[in-house]
Amino acid sequence: MTMEVRNLRFEGRIPKYWHNGGRSVSTFLDGLSIFFPAGERFFINSVRAHEKFVTDPELRAQMHAFVEQEGLHTREHLRYNARLRAHGYPVDAMEKRVVNILDRVTRILPARLQLGVTCALEHFTAVMGQMVLSDPRILDGADETMAALWRWHAVEENEHRSVAFDVFLAARGTYAERAVTMLGVSIVFWAKVFEHQARLMHSNGTVTSGRDWAELGIHLFITPGGMVKLVRPYLAYYRPSFHPSEFDAEPLLARYRAALADLQAAA
Ligand SMILES: [Fe+2]
Ligand SMILES: [Fe+2]
Repeated sequence: MTMEVRNLRFEGRIPKYWHNGGRSVSTFLDGLSIFFPAGERFFINSVRAHEKFVTDPELRAQMHAFVEQEGLHTREHLRYNARLRAHGYPVDAMEKRVVNILDRVTRILPARLQLGVTCALEHFTAVMGQMVLSDPRILDGADETMAALWRWHAVEENEHRSVAFDVFLAARGTYAERAVTMLGVSIVFWAKVFEHQARLMHSNGTVTSGRDWAELGIHLFITPGGMVKLVRPYLAYYRPSFHPSEFDAEPLLARYRAALADLQAAA
């Protein structure tokens, strides 16, 4: 898989509700953004902690590109989250809770299980990114800067979708370790996604709006209904022979690379 580190910045006058699908769809993606700075630092640390197991020069190069890509994602999501803070959302408290969970994971779990947690979350970021890229309706009519940011992140998550997994294999990670970490991650991550949604909607005064919840439900599960498409790749992770490269995202990425190159040229 070709990996490119694109040092892009996404800024401009971005409205609070930047997604055409409604307020609750904007806050859903905003809620995901709040995970990234602490989450991606955790990913980088858990992969780096296993560097000594990586002897293949190609995987070493991919690992370094992975660290650089995630580092730039963190920078842009910190800026994204600063905009959310300026809109009055309780970003500090929410980020702190994410940091606390990951600190606990770092203290309690052995290093290889921490890498298993990273592999599980990287599978989520890759398949959710693939969903965003494969169905243009997901960001249809969204603010252009925000759509470009999410597509950039989605492309790079797919470029490096195998890296943490290959480092885990090089570190002799077992099937049982990655299956059990995926189970735990699935429960905690989706509970937190829901919590973020409720907190952001509480903050903007829409948490009791049936219309806002319905809009979100329709967007996620019916039209375009991306969540339903996550089930098959999610279950595939539990197959002992699973490898992230079996979902070949390359033809999809080819469609977006030119647009990203244009953004880089204009930067
Ligand atoms: Fe990322
Ligand atoms: Fe990633």
